[in-house]
Formats: sequence, structure tokens, C-alpha cells
Amino acid sequence: MLTKEDNEFITQTGPGTPMGELWRRFWVPAVMAWEVPEPDCPPVRVRLLSEDLIAFRDTSGKVGMVANNCPHRGASLFFGRNEEEGLRCVYHGWKFDASGACIDMPNEPAESNFKSKVHIAAYPTVERGGIVWTYMGPKHLEPEMPDLPWIGLPEESRFVLKFHVECNYLQAMEGDIDNSHIPFAHGKLDPDTSLPFLERVQRTIFKAAGQREQSYYTKDLAPRGIIKETDYGLLLGWRRTVSDDSFNWHINHWFLPHSTVMGSPPPDTMLSNLRVPMDDTNSWQFRIRWNPYRPLDPDEVEEYRHAGTFFPELIPGTFKCVENQHNDYLIDREKQRTVSVTGIQSQTQQDRAVNEPYPTGPIYDRTKEHLGTSDTVIIGIRRKLIRAARELMLGHEPYAAHHGDIYNVRPVDLDLKREVPFEEGAREWVEAGQRK
Ligand code: FES
Ligand SMILES: [Fe+2]
Repeated sequence: MLTKEDNEFITQTGPGTPMGELWRRFWVPAVMAWEVPEPDCPPVRVRLLSEDLIAFRDTSGKVGMVANNCPHRGASLFFGRNEEEGLRCVYHGWKFDASGACIDMPNEPAESNFKSKVHIAAYPTVERGGIVWTYMGPKHLEPEMPDLPWIGLPEESRFVLKFHVECNYLQAMEGDIDNSHIPFAHGKLDPDTSLPFLERVQRTIFKAAGQREQSYYTKDLAPRGIIKETDYGLLLGWRRTVSDDSFNWHINHWFLPHSTVMGSPPPDTMLSNLRVPMDDTNSWQFRIRWNPYRPLDPDEVEEYRHAGTFFPELIPGTFKCVENQHNDYLIDREKQRTVSVTGIQSQTQQDRAVNEPYPTGPIYDRTKEHLGTSDTVIIGIRRKLIRAARELMLGHEPYAAHHGDIYNVRPVDLDLKREVPFEEGAREWVEAGQRK
């Protein structure tokens, strides 16, 4: 559990909060590159870290990320005209370029130099991995772009989706690193309803798109989570007993401050979730399927592209999901009785059903929880985030922000002899990206 104070400390990321300052030391994913597909296309609204911004692609193709409100009298630049190397406010015609400089002020006398004194808040952007990233911290501390293990892959080896999640970033992220929920929240059931629940779970085999069947998830329902501190965040080893002489290790990484990468047995497809606060009660999920060994299979991509078991259907023109907390994720009680633990269709919505709605609430009250053995990794990321934010308050900048190359470590899933430490046995796979 966390104290009320620590829970507020870790979940609040608006301007001026300690955790918000930590987030503002890193590049964060802002919009999909296709949301601003071409020069001079319509601007889009972006809510990030409790700030309202506008993204636009200028005539030269550069993406600007500026404050939503015009610095003149506050009109929204969402309604602006994006043309001739800048975004023009439609209230009185002031115009701003991607750097935030005011480049035209047509309602002021021609001899006025007022426009040279006015700027709009603007954040730098970088496009990598199909995503536009932005950096919202002090200009002189601009970090290195993290060399995430999927980010440099060719387009045919990755698939990126974005969702609006109606809860604080942390409780969504805690689900990503928690491997012990998989046979339950994402579990299937043997249809024989005369059997006890656990036996029905254990008779099934877990299978995700792009991955082979993985029997160990249901074989051992009480995995042990082991964490190793690293410069990029945490190395997470989930251990399950598969035979008398070996363990299965599901080896993931958690990257400061935003993402989890989850392993598969090579050459299967891997998964990453990036969680970014929109504000304290909403977050963005960027969900990436990626494969460092081979291009994604066309059948696999079909599964990612169409709503179904793995991804939910979006409400057209939004990143909100058709199955959501306001319709109980379209839970099907008959399916819950006969074929799946939750009765909820897609994996992302199974996660959200346990994270978002009342009484969990958009910011879970962690003074009320009871953490068990399997929650060691949850405690691990909380400690890491709180410590990094406290160190920053004392003037110690986060090491990871300025060492992008340390992020290129791969997750993996493999069996090892019981006596082999997982970080040793998996080293060859984990470091493979760094040797490419
Ligand atoms: S409010 Fe934008 S130009 Fe006046
Ligand atoms: Fe999950």
C-alpha cells in the first residue's frame, strides 16, 4: 500500500508537481504520425501531462506542438489556419511558427515590433516509430531520444495503436508489469461447467496473436516476480515451474517513465505498452506489436487491424473504445459462465474493466490495497518512480534521460535450468539489440 501522500505524489503529473517534473525530463509519445499526415493538414488537439496543446505539421513537414490558447486573448488554435509555415489564429490573425515565434500580427500597426516580443509556448518534437514525440521540460535539459527496442524497426515489423484510457497512468501501467493476472483477466475456461473454476482455467492454453500457444501461464498460477534495478528502469523476471529441473522465465523490462516491453519465445511477436498521462484521471495507451526477428505476418496484422479478441473497436473519429466503462465493456455473462473468465471480448478491455471503473476509480486509493507476494514488481516501479522524482527535487537529473542507448534491451521468454540465474541465462537475448 501507499500512504495518501505518496499516492498523490506518484499519480499527479500536472505542471509544477514533482512527478510531473520527472515526466518533463523525458520525450513522451504525443500523437500518431498519421494524425498529422501531411504539410498544412488540419491541426489536432493534444492533452498531455494536464496541458492542452495543438499539434500541426507546417508547410516544410515539421510538426509543431504549441499551447492550445493563443497568447493574444486566448482563442483556441484548434480552429487556426495551418498554411505558409505557421498556424494562424482566426480571432485576430496572429500567426505562429513551429518554434513558437509570432511571425505575423496583422491587426497591429505595420511599424509595431510587438510581434517580436510575443511567443506561444512550444515544445520540440521528434518522429520515431510512427509516433510524434514531444519534450515538455526545460530547453537546456533536452534529453536523448530513447532507443527503445522496437523503435528503429522497419514499418513491416511493428504495428502501433493508440487508445484513450479513462484512469490515471499508474494503475494502467501496473497492469502491464503484472504477469500474474494473465490466466485470470485474460483467461479462457474449459466449457465443462461441472469442473471447479481453477481446473477449468488450467485446462486451457494461453495464445496471443503472433505468438505460439503458451501452456505455462495456466500450469503455474502463482508465478514469482523478481526485479533487478537497472539504469533504464527495471529488469523483470517472472518465474514459473514447468518441470522438475527447469523454470520458465518471462522476462520483461520497465522503462522510465512510460513503458513496459513484454517478451515472447523467439521468433514470436512481442508487445509493448506506453502509458502517458493526459491528466491525472485519463491516460494515453500506445500499444505496439513488434518483432525484431521477422516482419509481421499478414494474418497477424489482419488480427491487429480489426477489432476482436486482441484490440477493441474504436468509436469512429476518436481514440475511445466502443466497449467502455459506461456500458460495462459489453460483458457477456453467458460467455463468462462458459468460455472466459471475464466475459469481456478484447484483451485491452479486460484490462480496463479491472482498472478504470468505480469503485476502483480513475485514481485508485492505494491506502486500501493488500499487496501479496506476486506484487513485488508493483512495489518496484512505485519505488523507482518516487525515488527518481525525489532525487530530481534535490537537483539530481535522471541518468536515463540522457542515455538513450541503454533502452535497447529486448524482452524474451525462455526455459532455463533451475540453477541458472535468469539475468545470466537470458543475457544473450536481452542484449541482442545492442549488438545489431
Ligand atoms: S486571440 Fe488569437 S489573435 Fe487574438
Ligand atoms: Fe492484461
